[in-house]
This record gives sequence, structure tokens and C-alpha cells, in this order.
Amino acid sequence: ARRNTVRDIARLKGQRPIVSLTAYTAPMANWLDDHVDFLLVGDSLDMVLYGFESTTGMTLDIMIEHTKAVMRGAKQAMVVIDLPFGTYEESPEVAFHNAARAIKETGCTAVKLEGGVEMADTIRYLTERKVAVLAHIGLKPQAVNVMGGYVAQGRTEDSWAPILEDARAIQEAGAFAVVIEGVTEPLAQKITEELDIPTIGIGAGKYCDGQILVTEDMLGMFPGNPKFVKRYAEMGKMIDQAVGQYAEEVKSRDFPGTEHTYAMKEKK
Ligand code: KIV
Ligand code: NA
Repeated sequence: ARRNTVRDIARLKGQRPIVSLTAYTAPMANWLDDHVDFLLVGDSLDMVLYGFESTTGMTLDIMIEHTKAVMRGAKQAMVVIDLPFGTYEESPEVAFHNAARAIKETGCTAVKLEGGVEMADTIRYLTERKVAVLAHIGLKPQAVNVMGGYVAQGRTEDSWAPILEDARAIQEAGAFAVVIEGVTEPLAQKITEELDIPTIGIGAGKYCDGQILVTEDMLGMFPGNPKFVKRYAEMGKMIDQAVGQYAEEVKSRDFPGTEHTYAMKEKK
């Protein structure tokens, strides 16, 4: 099958909800590939894979290696690389330099960056220079230190205006779609109705044009349970059970059995 493009994603708005998940490795990308329209190599891997407390420490080099792995694992899904904190905020030129490097070295289709009005010039600079951009507004996890935590946005009506301005600005600047994170359902609905480009929600209610979750969150493989995560499996518990049984069988010598053991060859 050919890989989805930004046009395939855009066309889904108003047709059916867009399905997306994060992926960081080739095998996971391969498992998800049949089910998703696009995969995001999210900088959430800083927390989920590398055990840090926020996403602010991630480097472009590490993002690129994981994106190469995801590209090898997924054949059908469009793949988007998250630009990590510090690689795009300084200037449109710096953003282009890093985005172009990410696209060239990985072969993925698009970059994602966090920000609205303040990033509009950068998004325009990138899209005019052939870089497809997925925007990310509402709760911006890379801003955790200035926010002082992960705080849901748009919970009072007088807080809507700047987020609506962000949505308009990133569309006007040329983003092909936008992730809306951690905002109330009516605000996400209003943005979805106003914009021509697809909105991809995470913790943004059911009216977005699509949904994304961190795969390890929805599989129950990552501790903590934010309100917006539905756990579709308890893989952490499955791992605990399986590894506990392995440890017991090693100690009791029930593992390995004869079926896991090489026999001597018969002498001719
Ligand atoms: O880093 C990430 O995984 C993300 C999504 C959850 C949108 O930015
Ligand atoms: Na991210």
C-alpha cells in the first residue's frame, strides 16, 4: 500500500474521524500501521521511553533515530516527527534548518511544533519552503516550566480568545492540520467547526476531526493515568505477570523445558 499523504489526511475532515497514535520504535510502528492514518514520533518518548519528568530534554538527534525506526516499521501510515524543545523557537531560519534535516534524514512526511500566534511566522516560513507542518495548540507540554505544570486550557469562556486566535493563525500560516491538547470539549468543537484543516484532539473531547493518544498510555504500559487516557489494555500488568512466572520457572528449573533445548545430533 502507498503511504498516506497530507492530502489523504486533509480529505478525511468531514468524512470520518482521523485515527492517530504515537510510535517510537519499528516493531510498535509495524503493529499500529494497519490501524492508523498517521503516526507521530512524539517527544513524549523523553518521558515514556527515557524516563525523564518532562519532554524538555529531548534532542533532535534522538528524535531522528526513532523516526527512522518508525519509518522502517510503518508502510502505510504517514509519519510525523515532533520537533523537540529548543530546535525551532529561536527563528524561522533555525526551525527550517532543523526541520529540513529531520525530513531529509528520516524520509518522514511532516514536522510537528508547539505554538500558535507566536509560531505563525515560522509555520509560514517552513510551509513556503516545502516543509509540511502539523501545529500543536492548547496545552503545550514543552511549556511545562513556564506553565508550572500541565494545566487544561479553555476552562472559562474568557480564556477562549487566545486559543481561537492560535487556531486561526496556524491555519492561515499553512499548517496542514493541528493537534489540540488539553482543552474543554466546547472550545475544541468551536475550533473544529471554524477551521478548514483537520483538528486532532488529545484530551479535547469527541468533536475533533481525529484523535491521538500516546500508545503506551492507552495500552496501560506507562504509569499515571491522565483523565483523557482510556486504557484499552493493561499491558503493564501482563508484563508483570509474565515476568513473574518466568522468574519462578527459572528458579524451579521448569524453564527451559526439553522443547526449548537443543538435542545432541545422532552419531552416523
Ligand atoms: O509528544 C507527543 O506524544 C505529542 C502528542 C501526544 C500529541 O505531542
Ligand atoms: Na509532543
